[in-house]
Amino acid sequence: MTMATKLPVPDNMAQQHSDQLLTLIKQKIAIEGGEISFAQYMHLCLYTPGLGYYSAGSHKLGTGGDFTTAPEISSLFSQTLAHHINDVFSQLTEPNIIEFGAGSGKMAVDILLELEHLNRLPANYFIIEASADLRGRQQQQIEAKLPHLSHVVQWLDQLPNNFIGVVLANEVCDAMPVHRLHFSSGHIYEQVITLNSAGDLQWCDNEFLPEELLIRANEIQHFIGQQDYVTEVNLQAEAWLSSVADSLDQGAVFIIDYGYPNISYYHPERTTGTLMCYYQQQGHDNPFIFPGLQDITAHIDFTALAETAQSNHLDVAGFQTQADFLIAGGITELVSTHADDELKRLQQATEIKRLTLPSEMGENFKVLTLTRQLEHLLPRIQLRDQRHRL
Ligand SMILES: C[S@@+](CC[C@H](N)C(=O)[O-])C[C@H]1O[C@@H](n2cnc3c(N)ncnc32)[C@H](O)[C@@H]1O
Repeated sequence: MTMATKLPVPDNMAQQHSDQLLTLIKQKIAIEGGEISFAQYMHLCLYTPGLGYYSAGSHKLGTGGDFTTAPEISSLFSQTLAHHINDVFSQLTEPNIIEFGAGSGKMAVDILLELEHLNRLPANYFIIEASADLRGRQQQQIEAKLPHLSHVVQWLDQLPNNFIGVVLANEVCDAMPVHRLHFSSGHIYEQVITLNSAGDLQWCDNEFLPEELLIRANEIQHFIGQQDYVTEVNLQAEAWLSSVADSLDQGAVFIIDYGYPNISYYHPERTTGTLMCYYQQQGHDNPFIFPGLQDITAHIDFTALAETAQSNHLDVAGFQTQADFLIAGGITELVSTHADDELKRLQQATEIKRLTLPSEMGENFKVLTLTRQLEHLLPRIQLRDQRHRL
């Protein structure tokens, strides 16, 4: 990831929008007695109705947006994912799909078309989306691209009980608000947000950590030793996974995201954490710039998610790089069966490189597969399985 040296200047309307959110954030800091956690700040920046990055109407995903996700790069990604879903579906009766954080809705369209092609459509394709704005976009996309299957797609506000099927989360956990920890001179602090004397946002060390965070901080200390160190903890992703586990009676969960096992995440050399911000396709690490106009993300600690899964009685069935997951799912065979002309084949070869090369998304992105009550192993997720690293 590249650090931006100079970011583009927002136009007047965008700047006003950001100023409005900043005012609201400052009010929140005042109401909370002078400081808020970074998780609260990140939540306000991304999800404040009408103003947050994901909750307001600017074009974020895909070509011309701030960042591009795998389903936006190529339909082959979602078609391959459909093959993995098909493996799970073959063991279930009347299975469904829940997709969390469906972005533009493109992945839902491509998965459903491929499952239709495989004659394995789900009874329902549920979408649970945090942003009302994106939910509207998804509805438009489904109506436009999938009119004959639009009756299958439904939006839910919460997880259903006794769910049977597959749960999908592509680049969703990294968009969940994280807490920040600061280890300094033998002390552990939570890095929170306050205002300086000029009224600007600034980091501040708070020595009183909530119990859950303190437990995690002590675990992290074990990896990093006594050096100065800043890092993130994604408690929300763990709570989210617990709620998914509560809902799932039988089936699988595929979590696809960038991140590492804890031993690499909390590596002694990664002293400034994994927090990244994206504004108009430029990556940098300052979350205070243009609140509401830039994306804020942190990498995923896959060990923490695997441990949460285990403690909620899910089977940790696989942990692969995105490249291995896609190759095992037959991404290369899809090119020959789906591309009807040479130009398209060449274009798809380029897309596959972006999705699978180690220098692109192939290794940074991982797939954690969790299952419950499946009678047979899923053979594709055995390819170069790396659960031993978790
Ligand atoms: C980085 S975007 C990824 C979008 C899409 N999955 C893709 O791959 O193109 C993150 C998405 O997750 C959504 N999101 C974040 N937290 C969520 C949650 N707890 N429940 C549902 N959606 C969530 C955001 O609103 C947004 O749609």
